[in-house]
Amino acid sequence: MAMTSLERAEAAEHAMSQELDRIVVKSVIYTSGERDPREPLPRQPDQGKLYMMGHDARLPRMPEKPTLFDFYKYRFGPSTHVLQSARLAKKNGVSEKIVLACLLHDISVMGFIRADHGYWSAQLVEPYVDEEVSWAIRHHQVLRFFADKSFGYKYPDSYVRLFGADYQPEPYVQEAYKRAREHKWYETSRLITVNDLYAFDPNVHVELEEFTDVVGRHFRQPKEGLGFDASPSAHMWRTMIYPTKYL
Ligand SMILES: [Fe+2]
Ligand SMILES: [Fe+2]
Repeated sequence: MAMTSLERAEAAEHAMSQELDRIVVKSVIYTSGERDPREPLPRQPDQGKLYMMGHDARLPRMPEKPTLFDFYKYRFGPSTHVLQSARLAKKNGVSEKIVLACLLHDISVMGFIRADHGYWSAQLVEPYVDEEVSWAIRHHQVLRFFADKSFGYKYPDSYVRLFGADYQPEPYVQEAYKRAREHKWYETSRLITVNDLYAFDPNVHVELEEFTDVVGRHFRQPKEGLGFDASPSAHMWRTMIYPTKYL
């Protein structure tokens, strides 16, 4: 027998409360530092509850075959910074690939992991973009710490405020920078840093849809949806869909 809409609503609510009932255990990386990861986790008794193994009811549900823009809408933090950077890149007349790189360059900060975000962002998008785009995203991580007058790029003032005037990038960062400088795609990556806005303009509002065409032309969206296409980074997208999955 078909359910009435009230029954359907009740069933949905029941399903949600069941899901909320799941035990959520945060990944070590969420808490490392706030607690000592070597200490055993304090565990409440299960009381017959099951562990979270899928959708976290506290988050908006994602479509079955999520697109890149679905992640911007349902999983990423505010995207003003990357949208304004991509808009600036467009205004500066760089190639569409670089506009895309600017749109994607900080997605790891927005939805995954902050530390080494250039590397994580690059890895996320690597199967879906030109090698040059992911290379450029990966290396903006180190290039942004080093001025390049020939591109009009100076060390960001905000870094002096954020990290102190005497902050020096670690030796491995210096090494990565030296290697990047010698690379044929140095300029592409440098152009990300040139268009990377270190201060937001609160009055400039940019819609994601402004980049629909650029993404359509240069981001190979998998037909199965991001997370379900068995690419080398599919698991990373899935982790953003189900960030509290127990295993
Ligand atoms: Fe960045
Ligand atoms: Fe950025």
